[in-house]
Amino acid sequence: MSSAEYAHWVDSWLGKLVPSLKSTASVYICGDWRSSGAIQQVAEKYFKIRSRITWEREKGRGAKTNWKNNSEDIWFCTLSDQYHFDVEAVKLMRKVIAPYTNENGDPKDWERTEHGGYCLTHPSNIWTDLTVPFWSMSENTDHPTQKPEKLLAKIILASTRPGDFVFDPFLGSGTSAVVARKLGRHFLGIELDESYACLALKRLELAENNNSIQGYSGGVFRERNSLQDQPDSRSKSLLTNDTISLFDQSEQSK
Ligand SMILES: C[S@@+](CC[C@H](N)C(=O)[O-])C[C@H]1O[C@@H](n2cnc3c(N)ncnc32)[C@H](O)[C@@H]1O
Repeated sequence: MSSAEYAHWVDSWLGKLVPSLKSTASVYICGDWRSSGAIQQVAEKYFKIRSRITWEREKGRGAKTNWKNNSEDIWFCTLSDQYHFDVEAVKLMRKVIAPYTNENGDPKDWERTEHGGYCLTHPSNIWTDLTVPFWSMSENTDHPTQKPEKLLAKIILASTRPGDFVFDPFLGSGTSAVVARKLGRHFLGIELDESYACLALKRLELAENNNSIQGYSGGVFRERNSLQDQPDSRSKSLLTNDTISLFDQSEQSK
């Protein structure tokens, strides 16, 4: 399919959705390098484009005559200048590279732990703390293009409040709905393939009793494979009540 044909196809369903959206809605559209240009072109027709997030999938086949295709773009758009964005809910806990201290030798905007210095950083539009769900991860299903729950958690926490509504017209194995349920949001999804819809229903059932999200705990996102080395939760000064209260602490250790 050419880029122009792809743009035409995106327009055929996106244009129909737009009238149903609230003026305060945020819209995220994902595609790889082949489709990203066409998505931008159609999104610009209907929305204000706020950013292009690129996330590293950390999986994919190596190519002999090309760069390994290892990333996807997510176009972040809004309908108007009035939209919700909670940056505090999506900060990333990272190891400090330059551990600045004040005149007393105390950490500046970071905290000392027995494993080194950590800080909560503003999330950028390059997401490298994710992987596609590997077979060994409990969220993994047979869906060939399943997104990680952590990715949807970033989007949903940044752009919705508890009780808001999340709609996914290409639901697949249900990741957006599952994360919406885990975070106390309402959701609706559409999926063409019955077997994928069944996977989504199964995951939604499991999510009723388990709201943990791999890579997100204590109200913060963490770099990959770093949980055991990181502080348990935000220090008091960095903690925000609304993000912490989304989860029962006992659930987070599951
Ligand atoms: C990229 S996948 C979505 C994966 C999903 N984000 C997840 O984490 O599992 C796109 C899904 O859209 C479905 N699909 C394709 N055309 C559709 C249509 N016209 N209506 C509803 N679903 C459709 C496909 O069956 C596929 O499962």
